[in-house]
Amino acid sequence: MKFDFQNPTRLVFGAGALKKLGAEVARHGKRALLVLGGGSVKRNGTFDKAVASLTAAGVEVVEMAGVEPNPRLATVVRGAELARHEACDVVVGLGGGSTMDAAKVMAATVFYEGDPWDMIAHGQAQQRLPTRALPIVTVPTLAATGSEMNSGAVITNERTTEKSYVIAGCLYPRVAVVDPELTVTVPPDHTAYGVADLLTHVTEGYFNGVEGTPLQDRFAEGTLLTALEWGPRAVAHGQDLEARAQVQWASVVALNGWVQVGVNAPFPVHMIEHVLSAHHDVAHGAGLAVVNPAWMRFAARARPAKFVQFAQRVFGLEARGPEDLDAALAGIDRFQAFLESIGCPTRLSGLKIGGELIDRYARDTLRIASDKEGRLPGRPPMSEADIVSTLRSAA
Ligand code: NZQ
Ligand code: ZN
Repeated sequence: MKFDFQNPTRLVFGAGALKKLGAEVARHGKRALLVLGGGSVKRNGTFDKAVASLTAAGVEVVEMAGVEPNPRLATVVRGAELARHEACDVVVGLGGGSTMDAAKVMAATVFYEGDPWDMIAHGQAQQRLPTRALPIVTVPTLAATGSEMNSGAVITNERTTEKSYVIAGCLYPRVAVVDPELTVTVPPDHTAYGVADLLTHVTEGYFNGVEGTPLQDRFAEGTLLTALEWGPRAVAHGQDLEARAQVQWASVVALNGWVQVGVNAPFPVHMIEHVLSAHHDVAHGAGLAVVNPAWMRFAARARPAKFVQFAQRVFGLEARGPEDLDAALAGIDRFQAFLESIGCPTRLSGLKIGGELIDRYARDTLRIASDKEGRLPGRPPMSEADIVSTLRSAA
């Protein structure tokens, strides 16, 4: 195990934290591009509170509304043009992961000459990573992606039907203002998808990482257990602020780099899900709930021991030994049953996706991410046939 680790994002966490937004943003700029989604923050009052806090701190607001779920490149370009035209000096993403991701890439596009799609990894010979961005401040209104405290963003190219990511140091937000009160209005379905997303961030690192990371295993299991305990409460009782806070903290930790530090894991489940979202515009967490159990069954056959550990430590199951495939599969069954119990789909049909394009999804996934042998990185790596059979098993 060898690593360098730095996460420069300042985290301001807790109910009522939104009141501090203005003071936090004022340290980084005087004229903010305030990036919003499709309107939830206007309906629930969060927008007005954010603007009041910003204005009280002397920060001018330029509104950039209308970021769609699975944010599109054209929206990013529109936001960057507005930021340039209005001479904004800081970008605030107020919304779900889609809004925060779009805000991050807008902040980089302001300084970027050329097509911002060059920044997004999509199988091109040379990805042009951004090196400069306006200061970014994130305010998540949905607990899911962890975008608020990481250097990633995921963008859809609507012209090419591709969805993929960029990870770059300049995309770390300067500050994440994380106020669980903002999430009480998230409906049960999106709350559950957020739980599925955070669980998958943890399982990707847990199952695909290098050997010899016992402490990270325990971080991962602690995060999983916390989400399994509090997630159902947040789904069933949206107004339960304690449940909202625990789920949101888990979602921050699940992808701010700490749980996965040193594990050096690829994220194969995410790579496959992004292709489903690109083609069918499904909610990311719902797509993961379908792909992840199917992927786990594929991977467990190659490497049961880690899945046995998962079954034992996360679900309290017994095993005949460290290679007990039945125990490994029983743990995966429990994981899938949990996702179903909170209302996530776990079959492609639940996403209203038929089987006709499965070969295409496999090819698209590999076009965006593949190793020297043309396989999707992961443990084990997946051939095109592996991806096809895994998706067929979830049809
Ligand atoms: O657009 P509005 O009107 O705000 O409504 C949204 C949207 O319809 C709604 N919503 C958000 N906050 C709400 C609320 N409704 C009521 N009350 C609130 N407080 O929820 C819907 C979904 O929002 P979205 O932002 O799309 O969801 P999520 O946070 O799950 O973000 C998903 C996006 O993030 C990417 C995904 O691929 C997807 O594009 N990811 C980003 C990552 C990152 N940057 O690190 C990692 C993830 O793995 C993921 O890939
Ligand atoms: Zn995710």
